[in-house]
Amino acid sequence: MKKEIKSVAVLCSGGDSPGMNCAIRSVVRTAIGAGLDVYGIQRGFQGLLEGNIRPMDASSVGNILQHGGTILQTSRCPEFLSADIRKEAAHILARKKVDSLIVIGGNGSFNGAWALHKEHGIPVVGIPGTIDNDISGTDYSIGFETAVQTAVDAVDKIRDTAHSHDRTFIVEVMGRKSPAIALNVGLCTGAENIILPTQNEEINYDQIVQDIKRGLKRGKLSSIIIVAEGEEPGLSYRVQENLSKYDIDARVCILGHIQRGGNPSVRDRLIASKMGYIAVKELMKNGTSFVTGYRNGKVTAVNFEECLDKNDNVPDEYLDIAKSLSI
Ligand code: F6P
Repeated sequence: MKKEIKSVAVLCSGGDSPGMNCAIRSVVRTAIGAGLDVYGIQRGFQGLLEGNIRPMDASSVGNILQHGGTILQTSRCPEFLSADIRKEAAHILARKKVDSLIVIGGNGSFNGAWALHKEHGIPVVGIPGTIDNDISGTDYSIGFETAVQTAVDAVDKIRDTAHSHDRTFIVEVMGRKSPAIALNVGLCTGAENIILPTQNEEINYDQIVQDIKRGLKRGKLSSIIIVAEGEEPGLSYRVQENLSKYDIDARVCILGHIQRGGNPSVRDRLIASKMGYIAVKELMKNGTSFVTGYRNGKVTAVNFEECLDKNDNVPDEYLDIAKSLSI
């Protein structure tokens, strides 16, 4: 149902990602330009429930686009899974005279936002923002490229020392159940092996060891195994233990949250700025809910329900290419 939009609030939800600040800046300045009252909600849905909502003007978002993190901060808010809690949130928004909401986050956050729309008729816009790049309905989410670049830079450095010492390194990257970071990092660093979340239960150690030995035989001085963290960090230590049974003395490096910080890349700044702009323009035009998806190289309004699931967003051939090139 179309609603006339007079005010909008923006929040970040879930894990932060580089480029969120660009999206916030773009939302705030586009909305001000269009004559809307604009609010920032601090610390995601948790902050919304606490009434942590403040008016924003053009200078509240000055000098932020180049910085990682989010000036609005973020949170994970499992309470938002409850319909009663969402009702409370809808009352708070009404009391503060906020008639629409923009949520920058991943598919978990989108599910909460969509439920708020369905139950209370509030127009909500989702802006994809997660380093995991695993939201259905969009080819890209803000922060992914920067995170991959951070991990690639780290692995390049690890390769230097691995080479000097004739060593095998196991480098664990983020991404939970998503293979996107691991595959992109593996391909871009010439990793000898990439272990994906889908393979965690059935890692083929014979094959990994065979690959390492083949490399050694043809004069390779180092081997890198990229491990996707899976449900929780630490899988690398299991891989290390299993390799030791084959007399391979591998070192472990878990990159962790370093991948979530840092100045956003050009691509992340561009896409975040476009998404923020389109979020406000389309919201005013249509007065209803949607996600600013990235499809075929363009930011476009996508049906919200298409963006509630997880998606791998990785070309099928990446693993094969990585394997073929790292012999
Ligand atoms: O935001 C996505 C993500 O960075 C995943 O890649 C990672 O598994 C998870 O968040 C870590 O979450 P937290 O910061 O809550 O430990």
